[in-house]
Amino acid sequence: MATTLLLVLFGSVSLALSVPPIHTQPEQVHISYPGVEGSMVITWTTLSVTESIVEYGQWGRKMFQFTAKGNSTLFVDGGREKRKMYIHRVILTQLVPGTAYLYHCGSDSGWSDLFYFTALRETWTDGPRFALFGDMGNENPQSLARLQKETQAGIYDIILHIGDFAYDMHEDDGKIGDEFMRQVESIAAYVPYMTCPGNHEEAYNFSHYRNRFSMPGDTESLWYSWNVGPAHIISFSTEVYFYLGYGLELLFKQYSWLKNDLEEANRPENRAVRPWIITMAHRPMYCSNDDKDDCTKFESYVRLGRNDTTPVAPGLEDLFYRYGVDLELWAHEHTYERLWPVYGFKVFNGSTEEPYVNPKAPVHIITGSAGCREKHDGFIPKPREWSAFRSTDYGYTRMQVINSTHLYLEQVSDDQYGKVIDSIMLVKERHGPEAWN
Ligand SMILES: [Fe+2]
Repeated sequence: MATTLLLVLFGSVSLALSVPPIHTQPEQVHISYPGVEGSMVITWTTLSVTESIVEYGQWGRKMFQFTAKGNSTLFVDGGREKRKMYIHRVILTQLVPGTAYLYHCGSDSGWSDLFYFTALRETWTDGPRFALFGDMGNENPQSLARLQKETQAGIYDIILHIGDFAYDMHEDDGKIGDEFMRQVESIAAYVPYMTCPGNHEEAYNFSHYRNRFSMPGDTESLWYSWNVGPAHIISFSTEVYFYLGYGLELLFKQYSWLKNDLEEANRPENRAVRPWIITMAHRPMYCSNDDKDDCTKFESYVRLGRNDTTPVAPGLEDLFYRYGVDLELWAHEHTYERLWPVYGFKVFNGSTEEPYVNPKAPVHIITGSAGCREKHDGFIPKPREWSAFRSTDYGYTRMQVINSTHLYLEQVSDDQYGKVIDSIMLVKERHGPEAWN
């Protein structure tokens, strides 16, 4: 009798232990700019179903004066456990540009910590300040602590993560993605965290990337553009050139979207207000690394397109040159490389003394050294003639679009405790294709 009772008791204990935890507490909070002035998207995750609410108010005024509701989507990871998570999205609107807001997100089942952000201004008098990097992992994210401190100190308005997150978000049934999103919450919940996909997001047709981020437009964050200050920023996927199994039509769809977007951005009335056209995408057109990537050993698909497809897939160097793209930001190589103004492998400096004053071709920056488990990449010993500066230090790039003629870039070395190891002032008195003449 006693044995039976014990068995019953232990049985119920083990049953009780096997119940999965209730997970209604919001986590992995991050914000992004949906491309409409006076708005911001708040995105977060729970593992149990909850409502999607943001309570917010202007800094210094009544707390939680406003309430906005959104919705959640069920995301099922493609791994063995088929882990489920709910991704919540709430769009805040009618924000006063340039004004600071305090917010928390969640529901009556649990609220997040308190965060703050400043509503973006599309008209910017003193120039938006960015941190740029790619290739940051859950393991060895060496630059993250410095970025966390600097972001919370208020030196950035926007973060651009140029592909390759977590290494990899789908691993361990998506738990690596969860932990990475928790790690970057301390920057991404305070300033818009704008993204593009990289090759490390490929699993299950980029499903973690498409589900976890909330970029402008209707492409599930794959390609989009937005405006801030004097800049028009275009984000796109280089991966459509590599993973044809997910549909060659994506490559053509993106190409025609890019062409239309550039056409529109170049209409005189638009380019007058936003003279800087900046692109960001993961795999560079040029690089001088010693790995097996296509920018060193083979011709770049992104630069020249592919002729092994039917129809032949157009590349992007000509398109970007034709529409007078000023600056192209890349990552993927775990290094920093600044190029001289370049087109078709030829250098087109503004002049010998001032190469970046009125350059005659786009300027490329490769900044993929934030830190990840794959560590650094190396360089081929002799830099190509278009390569102006190279560093294998872990780090990231700062950019300020100062005004319609001046854009400042500098490279921070985390290995050298935050030392600025490279900087340029890009000066353009004319923008658009006519600037190349
Ligand atoms: Fe990559």
